[in-house]
Amino acid sequence: MEKPKGELVIRTIAMPADTNPTGDIFGGWVMSQMDLGSAILAGKTAKARVVTVAMEGLSFLQPVGVGDTVTCYAWVEKIGRSSMKIPVEVWVERFRQHTEPVLVTRGVFVYVAVDETGRPIPVERG
Ligand SMILES: CC(C)(COP(=O)(O)OP(=O)(O)OC[C@H]1O[C@@H](n2cnc3c(N)ncnc32)[C@H](O)[C@@H]1OP(=O)(O)O)[C@@H](O)C(=O)NCCC(=O)NCCS
Repeated sequence: MEKPKGELVIRTIAMPADTNPTGDIFGGWVMSQMDLGSAILAGKTAKARVVTVAMEGLSFLQPVGVGDTVTCYAWVEKIGRSSMKIPVEVWVERFRQHTEPVLVTRGVFVYVAVDETGRPIPVERG
């Protein structure tokens, strides 16, 4: 069976305030959890301020429901000069079901390390 890849970067519970008009969790909320979680990893990797420059290949595979426990896993796939490519997976444990976590969303976030004025700076490796 497929397992989460990468490290746990953020975990939370999907709340009623985050629903769309049909009652599922709004995709934008899921994306923001992915952005928050992978930004933590990017900041830790670069040891600098980081900004999101791109989101690539986002796929919403399954809906997220109110009360689901939402966990984002991420890893650094590639470090360029100032950029970092970070794939992110979102897994949920369904509300009040004691079943295996389900992969609901995946995508790749790209961050750039920047200085205090917002200009790109090199990411130190190692
Ligand atoms: C990120 C930002 C500083 C980059 O500035 P820039 O002048 O384009 O800088 P560069 O052209 O030198 O690119 C910097 C790096 O980003 C990469 N990059 C730029 N645009 C990209 C894109 N659309 N997709 C992937 N990578 C991209 C470049 O390849 C380069 O990588 P490298 O240094 O590893 O080789 C600038 O675009 C910016 O401030 N964007 C807004 C960020 C923001 O507000 N994000 C949302 C809130 S956090």
